[in-house]
Amino acid sequence: MGCPAAARRPPPGPGLDLHMAGHCDLRTPHCVFLDFGPGSCGMSSTNPDNTPARPEGGYAGASDEAIAFHYDVGTDFYRLWLDPRLIYSAARWRGPLDRGPMPRVSLETAQLAKLDFHLDAVRVEECKTLLDVGCGWGAVLKRALERGVERATGLTLSRDQAQHVRSQDWPGADVRLESYEVFTPDGPIDGIISIGAFEHFVRPGYEPAHRQGIYRSFFERCHGWLRKGGALSLQSICWGYVDRAYAAKAVPTYVFPDSDLPWPNEVFEAANPFFDVVYAESRAEDYALTLRAWLKALRAQKAEIVAGHGEKIFDHYEKYLRRCTYAFENNTVTLMRFVMSRRG
Ligand SMILES: C[S@@+](CC[C@H](N)C(=O)[O-])C[C@H]1O[C@@H](n2cnc3c(N)ncnc32)[C@H](O)[C@@H]1O
Repeated sequence: MGCPAAARRPPPGPGLDLHMAGHCDLRTPHCVFLDFGPGSCGMSSTNPDNTPARPEGGYAGASDEAIAFHYDVGTDFYRLWLDPRLIYSAARWRGPLDRGPMPRVSLETAQLAKLDFHLDAVRVEECKTLLDVGCGWGAVLKRALERGVERATGLTLSRDQAQHVRSQDWPGADVRLESYEVFTPDGPIDGIISIGAFEHFVRPGYEPAHRQGIYRSFFERCHGWLRKGGALSLQSICWGYVDRAYAAKAVPTYVFPDSDLPWPNEVFEAANPFFDVVYAESRAEDYALTLRAWLKALRAQKAEIVAGHGEKIFDHYEKYLRRCTYAFENNTVTLMRFVMSRRG
Protein backbone atom coordinates (compact mmCIF):
# COMPACT_ATOMS: atom_id res chain seq x y z
CA MET A 1 0.00 0.00 0.00
CA GLY A 2 2.91 2.35 0.05
CA CYS A 3 3.60 3.29 3.57
CA PRO A 4 1.18 5.29 5.60
CA ALA A 5 3.00 6.76 8.52
CA ALA A 6 2.24 6.58 12.16
CA ALA A 7 0.21 9.21 13.88
CA ARG A 8 1.59 12.55 15.03
CA ARG A 9 0.15 12.37 18.50
CA PRO A 10 -1.49 9.59 20.46
CA PRO A 11 -4.92 8.75 19.17
CA PRO A 12 -7.88 8.67 21.48
CA GLY A 13 -8.87 5.44 23.04
CA PRO A 14 -6.99 2.73 24.87
CA GLY A 15 -4.79 0.07 23.45
CA LEU A 16 -3.20 2.03 20.65
CA ASP A 17 0.49 1.76 21.17
CA LEU A 18 2.22 4.48 19.20
CA HIS A 19 5.72 3.50 20.11
CA MET A 20 7.79 3.29 16.96
CA ALA A 21 10.11 0.35 16.72
CA GLY A 22 13.61 1.36 15.79
CA HIS A 23 15.03 1.06 12.31
CA CYS A 24 14.60 -2.51 11.14
CA ASP A 25 17.68 -3.58 9.29
CA LEU A 26 16.90 -6.87 7.60
CA ARG A 27 20.55 -7.72 7.23
CA THR A 28 20.93 -8.21 10.97
CA PRO A 29 19.29 -11.03 12.89
CA HIS A 30 17.80 -8.77 15.57
CA CYS A 31 15.80 -7.01 12.88
CA VAL A 32 12.98 -9.48 13.12
CA PHE A 33 10.34 -7.39 14.80
CA LEU A 34 7.61 -9.81 13.98
CA ASP A 35 7.93 -13.52 13.91
CA PHE A 36 5.91 -14.60 10.91
CA GLY A 37 6.72 -18.24 11.55
CA PRO A 38 9.23 -20.44 9.75
CA GLY A 39 11.48 -18.39 7.55
CA SER A 40 10.58 -15.29 9.57
CA CYS A 41 10.06 -11.79 8.25
CA GLY A 42 7.60 -13.34 5.80
CA MET A 43 10.50 -13.66 3.37
CA SER A 44 10.60 -16.45 0.89
CA SER A 45 13.88 -18.24 0.64
CA THR A 46 16.09 -17.08 -2.17
CA ASN A 47 15.38 -18.87 -5.38
CA PRO A 48 18.13 -18.28 -7.91
CA ASP A 49 15.61 -18.44 -10.75
CA ASN A 50 13.34 -15.95 -9.10
CA THR A 51 15.71 -13.32 -7.73
CA PRO A 52 15.59 -9.74 -8.93
CA ALA A 53 18.67 -8.41 -10.70
CA ARG A 54 20.21 -6.17 -8.05
CA PRO A 55 21.29 -2.64 -8.98
CA GLU A 56 25.05 -2.21 -8.96
CA GLY A 57 25.98 -0.70 -5.60
CA GLY A 58 22.67 -1.83 -4.06
CA TYR A 59 19.16 -0.51 -3.99
CA ALA A 60 18.68 3.20 -3.34
CA GLY A 61 15.50 2.49 -1.41
CA ALA A 62 13.87 -0.67 -0.16
CA SER A 63 15.64 -3.84 -1.26
CA ASP A 64 13.87 -6.93 -2.52
CA GLU A 65 14.31 -8.41 0.98
CA ALA A 66 12.69 -5.39 2.59
CA ILE A 67 9.83 -5.64 0.11
CA ALA A 68 9.47 -9.36 0.82
CA PHE A 69 9.19 -8.62 4.53
CA HIS A 70 5.92 -6.81 3.93
CA TYR A 71 4.54 -8.08 0.64
CA ASP A 72 5.46 -11.74 0.50
CA VAL A 73 3.32 -12.79 3.42
CA GLY A 74 1.17 -14.79 1.00
CA THR A 75 -1.20 -13.63 -1.72
CA ASP A 76 -3.92 -15.69 0.00
CA PHE A 77 -3.57 -13.49 3.05
CA TYR A 78 -4.05 -10.27 1.08
CA ARG A 79 -6.93 -11.83 -0.82
CA LEU A 80 -8.86 -12.12 2.42
CA TRP A 81 -9.20 -8.38 2.95
CA LEU A 82 -8.29 -6.45 -0.22
CA ASP A 83 -10.77 -5.93 -3.07
CA PRO A 84 -11.06 -8.71 -5.70
CA ARG A 85 -8.42 -7.03 -7.94
CA LEU A 86 -5.94 -7.16 -5.02
CA ILE A 87 -5.24 -3.43 -5.17
CA TYR A 88 -2.99 -2.33 -2.31
CA SER A 89 -3.16 1.46 -2.52
CA ALA A 90 -5.71 4.20 -1.95
CA ALA A 91 -8.92 4.08 -3.96
CA ARG A 92 -10.45 7.25 -5.44
CA TRP A 93 -13.77 7.82 -3.72
CA ARG A 94 -14.52 11.20 -5.26
CA GLY A 95 -12.82 14.18 -6.89
CA PRO A 96 -11.08 16.79 -4.74
CA LEU A 97 -13.57 19.55 -5.56
CA ASP A 98 -16.67 17.42 -5.03
CA ARG A 99 -18.72 18.50 -2.03
CA GLY A 100 -21.74 17.17 -0.23
CA PRO A 101 -22.36 13.67 1.02
CA MET A 102 -19.87 11.01 0.08
CA PRO A 103 -21.21 8.81 -2.72
CA ARG A 104 -22.11 5.40 -1.35
CA VAL A 105 -19.86 3.24 -3.47
CA SER A 106 -18.02 0.04 -2.67
CA LEU A 107 -14.25 -0.25 -2.29
CA GLU A 108 -14.22 -2.21 -5.54
CA THR A 109 -15.95 0.63 -7.42
CA ALA A 110 -13.68 3.28 -5.89
CA GLN A 111 -10.61 1.20 -6.80
CA LEU A 112 -11.77 0.91 -10.40
CA ALA A 113 -12.30 4.70 -10.46
CA LYS A 114 -8.70 5.09 -9.30
CA LEU A 115 -7.36 2.78 -12.02
CA ASP A 116 -9.35 4.66 -14.66
CA PHE A 117 -8.21 8.03 -13.29
CA HIS A 118 -4.57 7.07 -13.90
CA LEU A 119 -5.27 5.43 -17.25
CA ASP A 120 -7.23 8.48 -18.41
CA ALA A 121 -4.38 10.69 -17.17
CA VAL A 122 -1.89 8.97 -19.49
CA ARG A 123 -4.48 9.02 -22.32
CA VAL A 124 -4.69 5.25 -22.48
CA GLU A 125 -6.56 5.25 -25.78
CA GLU A 126 -3.37 6.61 -27.40
CA CYS A 127 -1.12 4.01 -25.71
CA LYS A 128 0.05 0.80 -27.32
CA THR A 129 2.60 0.26 -24.58
CA LEU A 130 2.27 1.03 -20.91
CA LEU A 131 4.63 0.67 -17.95
CA ASP A 132 3.48 0.27 -14.34
CA VAL A 133 6.31 0.88 -11.88
CA GLY A 134 5.38 -1.09 -8.77
CA CYS A 135 2.60 -3.15 -10.32
CA GLY A 136 1.54 -5.10 -7.23
CA TRP A 137 -0.76 -7.94 -8.20
CA GLY A 138 -1.32 -6.48 -11.66
CA ALA A 139 -4.61 -4.55 -11.52
CA VAL A 140 -3.34 -1.65 -13.66
CA LEU A 141 -1.90 -4.05 -16.24
CA LYS A 142 -5.17 -5.94 -16.57
CA ARG A 143 -7.28 -2.80 -16.80
CA ALA A 144 -4.90 -1.25 -19.36
CA LEU A 145 -5.20 -4.35 -21.53
CA GLU A 146 -9.00 -4.25 -21.21
CA ARG A 147 -8.84 -0.63 -22.38
CA GLY A 148 -6.88 -1.41 -25.54
CA VAL A 149 -3.19 -1.34 -24.58
CA GLU A 150 -1.27 -3.99 -26.54
CA ARG A 151 1.66 -4.48 -24.18
CA ALA A 152 1.49 -3.68 -20.47
CA THR A 153 4.73 -4.11 -18.52
CA GLY A 154 4.83 -4.19 -14.75
CA LEU A 155 7.78 -3.95 -12.38
CA THR A 156 7.72 -5.34 -8.86
CA LEU A 157 10.27 -6.47 -6.30
CA SER A 158 7.85 -8.95 -4.75
CA ARG A 159 8.19 -12.57 -5.81
CA ASP A 160 4.64 -13.38 -4.75
CA GLN A 161 3.26 -10.55 -6.86
CA ALA A 162 5.32 -11.45 -9.92
CA GLN A 163 4.30 -15.07 -9.63
CA HIS A 164 0.65 -14.11 -9.27
CA VAL A 165 0.68 -11.87 -12.37
CA ARG A 166 2.48 -14.53 -14.42
CA SER A 167 -0.05 -17.15 -13.37
CA GLN A 168 -2.90 -15.04 -14.77
CA ASP A 169 -1.66 -15.40 -18.36
CA TRP A 170 -3.16 -12.09 -19.42
CA PRO A 171 -2.37 -11.72 -23.14
CA GLY A 172 -0.02 -8.73 -23.53
CA ALA A 173 1.03 -8.58 -19.89
CA ASP A 174 4.71 -8.72 -19.02
CA VAL A 175 5.80 -8.68 -15.39
CA ARG A 176 9.41 -8.19 -14.40
CA LEU A 177 10.87 -8.90 -11.02
CA GLU A 178 13.19 -5.92 -11.03
CA SER A 179 13.64 -2.40 -9.77
CA TYR A 180 13.05 0.64 -11.94
CA GLU A 181 16.77 1.22 -11.25
CA VAL A 182 17.78 -1.63 -13.56
CA PHE A 183 14.83 -1.70 -15.95
CA THR A 184 15.46 -1.27 -19.66
CA PRO A 185 12.40 -1.24 -21.91
CA ASP A 186 12.27 -3.09 -25.23
CA GLY A 187 11.16 0.11 -26.97
CA PRO A 188 9.55 3.48 -26.26
CA ILE A 189 6.74 3.51 -23.75
CA ASP A 190 3.56 5.46 -24.42
CA GLY A 191 2.41 5.95 -20.85
CA ILE A 192 3.76 5.34 -17.33
CA ILE A 193 1.79 4.79 -14.14
CA SER A 194 3.23 4.34 -10.69
CA ILE A 195 1.00 3.83 -7.68
CA GLY A 196 2.29 3.29 -4.18
CA ALA A 197 5.89 2.49 -5.11
CA PHE A 198 7.50 5.92 -4.75
CA GLU A 199 7.18 5.48 -0.96
CA HIS A 200 9.88 2.81 -1.20
CA PHE A 201 12.44 4.73 -3.24
CA VAL A 202 14.47 6.29 -0.41
CA ARG A 203 15.46 5.05 3.01
CA PRO A 204 14.99 6.82 6.33
CA GLY A 205 17.89 9.02 7.41
CA TYR A 206 19.04 10.12 3.99
CA GLU A 207 20.13 13.75 3.66
CA PRO A 208 17.73 15.98 1.66
CA ALA A 209 20.18 16.28 -1.26
CA HIS A 210 20.61 12.51 -1.41
CA ARG A 211 16.85 11.99 -1.46
CA GLN A 212 16.45 14.56 -4.19
CA GLY A 213 19.12 12.86 -6.28
CA ILE A 214 17.25 9.54 -6.09
CA TYR A 215 13.88 11.04 -6.91
CA ARG A 216 15.38 13.06 -9.73
CA SER A 217 16.99 9.97 -11.21
CA PHE A 218 13.60 8.18 -11.17
CA PHE A 219 12.03 11.01 -13.18
CA GLU A 220 15.02 11.16 -15.50
CA ARG A 221 14.62 7.45 -16.23
CA CYS A 222 10.89 7.79 -16.85
CA HIS A 223 11.60 10.69 -19.17
CA GLY A 224 14.09 8.56 -21.08
CA TRP A 225 11.64 5.65 -21.48
CA LEU A 226 8.61 7.71 -22.49
CA ARG A 227 7.83 8.70 -26.04
CA LYS A 228 7.69 12.40 -26.84
CA GLY A 229 4.41 13.84 -25.58
CA GLY A 230 3.83 10.91 -23.21
CA ALA A 231 2.53 11.24 -19.67
CA LEU A 232 3.34 9.85 -16.24
CA SER A 233 0.66 9.46 -13.58
CA LEU A 234 2.10 9.07 -10.11
CA GLN A 235 0.35 8.29 -6.84
CA SER A 236 2.22 8.42 -3.58
CA ILE A 237 1.66 8.96 0.08
CA CYS A 238 3.48 12.12 1.12
CA TRP A 239 4.32 13.61 4.46
CA GLY A 240 1.67 16.12 5.48
CA TYR A 241 1.93 18.83 8.08
CA VAL A 242 5.07 17.57 9.85
CA ASP A 243 8.67 18.69 9.89
CA ARG A 244 11.72 16.57 9.15
CA ALA A 245 12.56 15.99 12.80
CA TYR A 246 9.12 14.59 13.47
CA ALA A 247 9.06 12.55 10.28
CA ALA A 248 12.41 10.95 11.14
CA LYS A 249 10.87 9.53 14.31
CA ALA A 250 7.47 8.64 12.86
CA VAL A 251 8.46 6.68 9.78
CA PRO A 252 7.09 3.17 10.37
CA THR A 253 10.07 1.01 9.48
CA TYR A 254 8.61 -1.81 11.59
CA VAL A 255 5.96 -2.14 8.87
CA PHE A 256 7.89 -1.05 5.78
CA PRO A 257 11.62 -1.50 6.36
CA ASP A 258 14.08 0.76 4.59
CA SER A 259 11.39 3.06 3.22
CA ASP A 260 10.54 6.72 3.74
CA LEU A 261 7.93 9.07 2.31
CA PRO A 262 8.49 12.11 0.09
CA TRP A 263 7.27 15.63 0.80
CA PRO A 264 5.10 17.04 -2.01
CA ASN A 265 7.65 19.77 -2.77
CA GLU A 266 10.36 17.13 -3.26
CA VAL A 267 8.24 15.50 -5.95
CA PHE A 268 7.62 18.80 -7.75
CA GLU A 269 11.28 19.80 -7.60
CA ALA A 270 12.69 16.44 -8.66
CA ALA A 271 10.27 16.11 -11.57
CA ASN A 272 10.60 19.67 -12.79
CA PRO A 273 13.55 19.27 -15.19
CA PHE A 274 11.82 16.36 -16.92
CA PHE A 275 8.07 16.79 -16.50
CA ASP A 276 5.49 19.51 -16.39
CA VAL A 277 3.10 18.75 -13.54
CA VAL A 278 -0.23 19.42 -15.21
CA TYR A 279 -2.42 18.26 -12.32
CA ALA A 280 -1.98 17.43 -8.65
CA GLU A 281 -4.43 16.49 -5.92
CA SER A 282 -4.05 15.89 -2.21
CA ARG A 283 -6.60 13.40 -0.96
CA ALA A 284 -5.91 12.18 2.58
CA GLU A 285 -9.61 11.28 2.76
CA ASP A 286 -9.15 8.77 -0.08
CA TYR A 287 -6.67 6.76 1.98
CA ALA A 288 -8.55 7.11 5.26
CA LEU A 289 -11.67 5.64 3.62
CA THR A 290 -9.68 2.88 1.93
CA LEU A 291 -8.00 1.96 5.19
CA ARG A 292 -11.34 1.86 6.96
CA ALA A 293 -12.66 -0.52 4.31
CA TRP A 294 -9.58 -2.75 4.65
CA LEU A 295 -9.80 -2.72 8.43
CA LYS A 296 -13.46 -3.73 8.31
CA ALA A 297 -12.69 -6.59 5.93
CA LEU A 298 -9.64 -7.70 7.96
CA ARG A 299 -11.66 -7.82 11.16
CA ALA A 300 -14.48 -9.69 9.43
CA GLN A 301 -11.95 -12.33 8.34
CA LYS A 302 -10.20 -12.60 11.71
CA ALA A 303 -10.99 -16.26 12.31
CA GLU A 304 -9.71 -17.32 8.90
CA ILE A 305 -6.61 -15.12 9.11
CA VAL A 306 -5.72 -16.42 12.57
CA ALA A 307 -6.31 -20.02 11.49
CA GLY A 308 -4.28 -19.74 8.31
CA HIS A 309 -1.59 -17.18 9.15
CA GLY A 310 -1.48 -16.84 12.92
CA GLU A 311 -2.61 -14.30 15.48
CA LYS A 312 0.55 -12.21 15.23
CA ILE A 313 -0.07 -11.35 11.61
CA PHE A 314 -3.66 -10.41 12.34
CA ASP A 315 -2.66 -8.22 15.29
CA HIS A 316 0.16 -6.57 13.36
CA TYR A 317 -2.00 -5.65 10.38
CA GLU A 318 -4.94 -4.62 12.50
CA LYS A 319 -2.75 -2.27 14.49
CA TYR A 320 -0.92 -0.83 11.52
CA LEU A 321 -4.12 -0.20 9.57
CA ARG A 322 -5.64 1.55 12.60
CA ARG A 323 -2.60 3.74 13.09
CA CYS A 324 -2.44 4.64 9.43
CA THR A 325 -6.11 5.61 9.36
CA TYR A 326 -5.44 7.98 12.21
CA ALA A 327 -2.39 9.45 10.45
CA PHE A 328 -4.43 10.29 7.34
CA GLU A 329 -7.32 11.65 9.34
CA ASN A 330 -4.94 13.98 11.18
CA ASN A 331 -2.99 15.17 8.14
CA THR A 332 0.29 13.73 9.36
CA VAL A 333 0.37 12.19 5.90
CA THR A 334 -1.62 12.74 2.76
CA LEU A 335 -2.22 10.94 -0.50
CA MET A 336 -1.04 12.74 -3.61
CA ARG A 337 -1.70 12.14 -7.30
CA PHE A 338 0.48 13.95 -9.83
CA VAL A 339 -0.19 13.91 -13.55
CA MET A 340 2.92 14.86 -15.49
CA SER A 341 3.56 15.60 -19.11
CA ARG A 342 6.99 14.78 -20.56
CA ARG A 343 9.07 17.83 -21.30
CA GLY A 344 10.71 17.98 -24.71
C1 LIG B 1 2.02 -0.70 -2.14
S1 LIG B 1 2.45 -1.73 -3.44
C2 LIG B 1 1.42 -1.03 -4.70
C3 LIG B 1 1.08 -2.02 -5.73
C4 LIG B 1 0.11 -1.54 -6.82
N1 LIG B 1 0.62 -0.40 -7.51
C5 LIG B 1 -1.25 -1.28 -6.26
O1 LIG B 1 -1.68 -0.13 -6.25
O2 LIG B 1 -1.89 -2.24 -5.85
C6 LIG B 1 4.09 -1.15 -3.86
C7 LIG B 1 4.69 -1.81 -5.06
O3 LIG B 1 5.91 -1.13 -5.38
C8 LIG B 1 6.87 -2.09 -5.75
N2 LIG B 1 8.21 -1.48 -5.63
C9 LIG B 1 8.80 -0.96 -4.54
N3 LIG B 1 10.04 -0.52 -4.85
C10 LIG B 1 10.22 -0.75 -6.16
C11 LIG B 1 11.28 -0.52 -7.09
N4 LIG B 1 12.42 0.02 -6.70
N5 LIG B 1 11.11 -0.87 -8.39
C12 LIG B 1 9.94 -1.44 -8.80
N6 LIG B 1 8.90 -1.69 -7.97
C13 LIG B 1 9.04 -1.35 -6.68
C14 LIG B 1 6.58 -3.24 -4.82
O4 LIG B 1 7.19 -4.42 -5.28
C15 LIG B 1 5.05 -3.26 -4.91
O5 LIG B 1 4.66 -3.97 -6.06
